[in-house]
Amino acid sequence: MTQQGAFPSGRSAVLTGAASPRGIGRATAELLASGGWAVAILDIDGDAARKAAAEITDIYGVQAVGVGADVSDPAAVNAAIDEVESTLPPIIGLANLAGISSPTEFMDETLEAWERVFRINMTGTFLVTQRVLRGMIERKLGRIVSVSSISAQRGGGTYSKVAYSASKAAIIGFTRALAREMGQHGITVNCVAPGPVDTDIMGGTLTEERKAAMSADILVGRVGTVRDIAALLVFLMGEDAGFITAATYDINGGLQIS
Ligand SMILES: NC(=O)c1ccc[n+]([C@@H]2O[C@H](COP(=O)([O-])OP(=O)(O)OC[C@H]3O[C@@H](n4cnc5c(N)ncnc54)[C@H](O)[C@@H]3O)[C@@H](O)[C@H]2O)c1
Repeated sequence: MTQQGAFPSGRSAVLTGAASPRGIGRATAELLASGGWAVAILDIDGDAARKAAAEITDIYGVQAVGVGADVSDPAAVNAAIDEVESTLPPIIGLANLAGISSPTEFMDETLEAWERVFRINMTGTFLVTQRVLRGMIERKLGRIVSVSSISAQRGGGTYSKVAYSASKAAIIGFTRALAREMGQHGITVNCVAPGPVDTDIMGGTLTEERKAAMSADILVGRVGTVRDIAALLVFLMGEDAGFITAATYDINGGLQIS
């Protein structure tokens, strides 16, 4: 029988792409901090990451570090996790949120732009996860959650197009296959597939008109909030989620019924 390590009270979560003040990652970092987690924010915008971490320490009184790193750059990822491991308590949770959108129509797509989307959305998730897993495997405990998208299931339809949908579908296969390898180490691997949420990745703040148009087919009659998604991510990184792995959670107000 696999023995999972004890869930420690001194624990950290690494969140990539959590620097944007209006983003899902920032909301998740705050919710974790309010539950006593130390948090590490890795983002390509290093200044915003450090500012977010300082604000979180001020508000919640937990340890927090912000590190500038491009998740698609292996050296930057290694250096960032080295820094986190030497500063914070053991990393128990990892949320892969760093991502970019891509509203380009397929026939206008270029190889360079296509590869950039995959490098950040998928390869970045691979690099950070592999680096963080070293310590998790040693400790026999870890909770990994990556953010896919309803775009993977419906083929876009809200903002982004083919490259984004394909990269987010890759996250689902990544999650399932990795979960098979990690179960024996006491590590769970899951992903979430959110419907539309009003963040900067949607090409700027959603106008009331755009929100209303998007809400038309959503059963609960509204777009998602960052808090809606953060709550699920925090649950999946928490102690009580140890029997959930290889899952993809629909969180879309009923826009997609799987
Ligand atoms: N907002 C939505 O409707 C929605 C729906 C489904 C899935 N998602 C996914 O949720 C995740 C979070 O997005 P969000 O909506 O909070 O948008 P966001 O734009 O606020 O957050 C994305 C973050 O990723 C960072 N980032 C971009 N490239 C990076 C790189 N190379 N290395 C490190 N960091 C990088 C950005 O600086 C930003 O802070 C993304 O993966 C996105 O695809 C969003």
